[in-house]
Amino acid sequence: MYRNYLASLARQQAEMGNGDKLKVLLVLGSIRDGRQGIKVANFVRKQLENRNFEVTFYDLLEMNFPMVKQPVHFLGPERSGAPQILLDCEKQIRETDAFVIVSAEYNNSIPGSLKNFLDAFPDGAYGCKPSGVVCYSMGPYGGYCSSTALRTVLGVLSSPCVSRVFAIPLVQNEFDEDGNVLNEKLKSDLNPMLEQLEWMANAAKCHRQKVGLPTSSFMFQ
Ligand SMILES: Cc1cc2nc3c(=O)[nH]c(=O)nc-3n(C[C@H](O)[C@H](O)[C@H](O)COP(=O)(O)O)c2cc1C
Repeated sequence: MYRNYLASLARQQAEMGNGDKLKVLLVLGSIRDGRQGIKVANFVRKQLENRNFEVTFYDLLEMNFPMVKQPVHFLGPERSGAPQILLDCEKQIRETDAFVIVSAEYNNSIPGSLKNFLDAFPDGAYGCKPSGVVCYSMGPYGGYCSSTALRTVLGVLSSPCVSRVFAIPLVQNEFDEDGNVLNEKLKSDLNPMLEQLEWMANAAKCHRQKVGLPTSSFMFQ
């Protein structure tokens, strides 16, 4: 299953194949049966591609991301005994320019599956690269509590969130069965967050290229 997932990622990247684009890692946190999140993530992915980001999409369900018993940075600099999927994900996290996290609200916070993923890698891998949050819920508040929880976690992981969040209330009413967006306004509502993310990712990339990373400041490498 993971091998098929890798092959489809490689195909995605070969189709785009432009080294100058900003790279964004899009992560969908929900792995629940019947999840709404897949429609949200596919929609966000399309908008990112329209803005000329090079998108790698991590669907934690499709990739069968495991329950992590040991974060990679607790396995030493050689990552001794780390499963291949964790090594691949860490490499991708280090190579990307920005993150977009799509999160549902579960009990006023983020799904455990998403926290399990985020905690598996060191702050040094996230490397001062910005993140943007997309949250949603079936209720009227758009899962906003999950975004505040996520901001804290991502901040500690050295991936500060841009100030604008894209929140989708009543998510069950926003897409048809095939995931097509029913309300065109959703597209323009996503723009402020993406605009900030693009600006911050470009700024961080330029500075990284000039001076590298503040390596000694990270808690874990
Ligand atoms: C375990 C669990 C906890 C939830 N907690 C909240 C909550 O605190 N606030 C809220 O607005 N919705 C809550 N919901 C409703 C979710 O927002 C809604 O089910 C949403 O579709 C979940 O995303 P998903 O379908 O992609 O998994 C919860 C759902 C689940 C499964």
